[in-house]
Amino acid sequence: MNDPSARLAQLRARVVELARAQDPYAHIFAGKEFRRDFVAGRTMVWSTLFGDIRDTTTRVLEIGSKEGRSALFWLEFFARAHLTCIDLFREDDAGRFDRNLAAYGPRLRKMVGTSIKALGSLREENAVFDFIYIDGSHQRDDVMIDCLGAWRLLREGGVMLMDDYTWMPDSPDAERVAPAVDTFLAWHGDAEVILKSHQVAVRKRSA
Ligand SMILES: C[S@@+](CC[C@H](N)C(=O)[O-])C[C@H]1O[C@@H](n2cnc3c(N)ncnc32)[C@H](O)[C@@H]1O
Repeated sequence: MNDPSARLAQLRARVVELARAQDPYAHIFAGKEFRRDFVAGRTMVWSTLFGDIRDTTTRVLEIGSKEGRSALFWLEFFARAHLTCIDLFREDDAGRFDRNLAAYGPRLRKMVGTSIKALGSLREENAVFDFIYIDGSHQRDDVMIDCLGAWRLLREGGVMLMDDYTWMPDSPDAERVAPAVDTFLAWHGDAEVILKSHQVAVRKRSA
């Protein structure tokens, strides 16, 4: 096979397959409908990193839910939590999200539309969260808005996790996540970094 992108896709599929085979949380996703897997290989890191906040996390916000794979993990891992999911929920994802999450009705709020709009509504409601996962738009300016808007909703001591920090390193800055996360970290001395890898996690320091 000489086509590098086909080779890359094949390698990625193999990595996902291996990660799934070893995933102790695989049962969460069994029997659900997915076309993509943005979670394989992450559940072990998440469960280790967030084990200490598992019982105290009751209010979770997710920006970028797609078909609901990460949402399912948060609902199962943080078993006492209510989850708010923000996404454009484009037509081909919306049905799968609804079917995959159907069993969690009372513990779930779905906000359809752009994150900038939803974050504004949550701010007006004085919503507060213990844990926030940012995995929406990957455009620098959108990520900046998501980080800043979400940070205002995070309680002191709460944790915010941002995906795709190392995504597309050769793309222009405006099309990458990293410049926004780096700027957010430079502006926010109250963000204590607890993970910096393909994902970045921060804990909000007390004032
Ligand atoms: C990588 S996917 C999320 C994957 C999901 N967390 C999972 O683990 O399966 C990114 C999602 O962000 C959503 N999205 C992109 N831009 C957005 C925006 N400005 N506001 C809200 N959602 C957005 C897309 O519709 C897409 O479903």
